[in-house]
Amino acid sequence: MLQGKKILLGITGSIAAYKAATLTRLLIKEGAEVKIVMTNAAKEFVTPLSLSTLSKQPVLTDLSENDSWANHVMLGRWADIMLIAPASCNTIAKMAGGICDNLLLAVYLSATCPVAIAPAMDEDMWLHSTTRNNLKKISDAGNLLIPVGNGELASGLIGEGRMAEPEDILKWLNLFFSDSQPLHGKNALVTAGPTFEAIDPVRFIGNHSSGKMGVAIAEELANRGANVTLVLGPTNISVKQGIQVLSVTTAAEMYEACDLIFPTCHIAVMCAAVADYTPVQVADQKIKKKEEPITVSLTPTRDILKSLGQKKKLGQVLVGFALETQNEKENAIKKLTSKNADLIVLNSLNDKGAGFGYDTNKITIFDKAGGELNFDTRPKKELAKEIVNSIIHTLHAQI
Ligand code: PMT
Repeated sequence: MLQGKKILLGITGSIAAYKAATLTRLLIKEGAEVKIVMTNAAKEFVTPLSLSTLSKQPVLTDLSENDSWANHVMLGRWADIMLIAPASCNTIAKMAGGICDNLLLAVYLSATCPVAIAPAMDEDMWLHSTTRNNLKKISDAGNLLIPVGNGELASGLIGEGRMAEPEDILKWLNLFFSDSQPLHGKNALVTAGPTFEAIDPVRFIGNHSSGKMGVAIAEELANRGANVTLVLGPTNISVKQGIQVLSVTTAAEMYEACDLIFPTCHIAVMCAAVADYTPVQVADQKIKKKEEPITVSLTPTRDILKSLGQKKKLGQVLVGFALETQNEKENAIKKLTSKNADLIVLNSLNDKGAGFGYDTNKITIFDKAGGELNFDTRPKKELAKEIVNSIIHTLHAQI
């Protein structure tokens, strides 16, 4: 489960820091990629040399070293999880208070990945009301707590506060990734963005799709462990690492790409705004401006969603979108059945903050059993989570 996982290990000043060496070795053995950030206090307990040898990566301590700047923002974006083990009482207090006086805390404050802490301290400190409040603040902020052990402490006393053993942290991580990655081993195809249909070498028929909704879905599917291929029409949007992007321009190119990929997919989400018509002929040269009107003859493009619906097999979940301006619900349900989709996501251009270009959308998800889930206007990234939840539900119902 940890094969290829990117783990950012933060080590703070505690006697338990010596266990970080064993933990690093176990993580590497499991196939994880490990980068280490340690505080200066942690160096008193374990050397950066041991850790860089075990992790096969340089160990970072300072915001700037030898005239170069450690990019704390990118570290937090690189990682699948930031694990602070051991997390000392001091670092926990600083995390709770938003203090940023070392690299590890700067990484924590800018991390976009989940953060887990494995506290380590003597029992009296562990039970102190200030520590309890700090831990509550940290977990209320969405961070994860790896339970402490009970046993012999650095003081010689027996009690609560020992850092979890490296083997137990490994088990915790395996469980974390299996729970948070329900789509591990599943292949997903997502389309996003517009298509451009050429009229002549300089002009085309296109639409206002930015790709934001489709990319948010592709990224959410990847976050849940799926191998995602994104067939992306012409946009400037950036896509997070780890997603295979196939860039296309026309509806015909999008059709070819989807038709090729679909047979090996468990999930397909057609979010692109595909042109319904394309010029019958594309002029070789730029069409010259004249006084009289001109006519461009258009022919229907192939309907990708409908074609995939005809080829769909048991075990494949097909999701379509419906972008409507009138009779929204009726049209969406018609698309669900006529295209043999499992789910249809309706968005209407009549709703404020919904549809093309916005960071938000307002959607309703319809399923084949007549179910209907309505969502208020929310960021597309949040709605992508709801859409993926519905996909997982549908996938499980088929098995
Ligand atoms: O990209 P954004 O700026 O974030 O905007 C998001 C969006 C508005 C483009 C998106 O939420 C959306 O609604 N996408 C579908 C747009 C659309 O073409 O809707 P439609 O009702 O015309 O098409 C119905 C379904 O058929 C869609 O799943 C579409 O991808 C699919 N289709 C359409 C035509 C065609 N030739 N082949 C298709 O597969």
